[in-house]
Amino acid sequence: MKVLITGGAGILGRKVAQLFLENGDQPRVFDLPQVDYSFFDDKPGVEIVKGDIRNQEAVNKAVAGVDAILHLAALIPPASERDRDFTMAINVGGTKNLLQAAAGRDVHFVLTSSVATYGDTSQEEPPVKVTHPQSAIDIYAESKIESERVTRESGLPWTIFRIAPISVPEIMEPPEVWPFMADQRVEFVNRDDVAIALFACAQTPASKGKVLNIAGGKTWQLKGKEYVASLYEAMELDPDSARFSETPGWFDWYDTAESQALLNYQRTPFPEFVAQLRRAAEEAFGW
Ligand SMILES: NC(=O)c1ccc[n+]([C@@H]2O[C@H](COP(=O)([O-])OP(=O)(O)OC[C@H]3O[C@@H](n4cnc5c(N)ncnc54)[C@H](O)[C@@H]3O)[C@@H](O)[C@H]2O)c1
Repeated sequence: MKVLITGGAGILGRKVAQLFLENGDQPRVFDLPQVDYSFFDDKPGVEIVKGDIRNQEAVNKAVAGVDAILHLAALIPPASERDRDFTMAINVGGTKNLLQAAAGRDVHFVLTSSVATYGDTSQEEPPVKVTHPQSAIDIYAESKIESERVTRESGLPWTIFRIAPISVPEIMEPPEVWPFMADQRVEFVNRDDVAIALFACAQTPASKGKVLNIAGGKTWQLKGKEYVASLYEAMELDPDSARFSETPGWFDWYDTAESQALLNYQRTPFPEFVAQLRRAAEEAFGW
């Protein structure tokens, strides 16, 4: 299978490319010329096409000859919140350019949308299902709702992933204020598990025409302060130093029964993720 991964040099994309490579495929990665491609230095089987997703000619070259497009290129928060026109040009305009380049062909188009599109669901009964109405509370969600719409209307076989916030088991600088409340429901998902879901989706024809919530599963369904305390303890930070938003963001628990049954991607229970983070901290700080 020839697959195109847009935004393929990003946090998620590079892991997706690695899975295809390990499977014996030669994935094509498309990303901006100025980003860091060193992850691929020892992976000559990955084809790299550099360009801007706003440029139709560059996009046409990236899409030539592919059977599937995993569309990850986007501006994400906080960068997405600075300039609405810029964000819409990349997130929505980029999606349109890809759809136009693939028009009329049998190309499976997988859009990485977000659970941000559900808006504030904190006063409702969990879990949030894919049938829940969408309501943007930021520019990012607005751009993803519009990207979903143009994807559905494209005539291509499509799958829409509404992905929960992604966690990576690496040392990080905690944000000054976490973007959710201490007592709010949160459900993140391990980066590598999302990569597995995208890889599996491209090999699963039954995923076509489906909107799927992609999140960590039961063990990741926590309150904001529980999630943060586990991360802080793994990195030997004081959990009491964490500050939380005073208003709810778009965080919640999600119904992932269908996505898990189709794609079997929830491989990392939350305690295992915390153990991985702990090992990363031990290595980084020589504990
Ligand atoms: N990170 C999360 O928590 C999360 C949650 C839900 C959904 N998603 C979605 O998953 C996808 C991948 O996210 P990520 O976490 O890997 O983010 P990321 O920022 O690491 O990756 C996005 C990639 O898109 C590329 N890109 C940006 N503008 C571009 C342009 N004009 N032309 C070409 N490439 C461009 C960037 O260089 C980057 O490599 C995004 O669509 C994002 O909206 C992410």
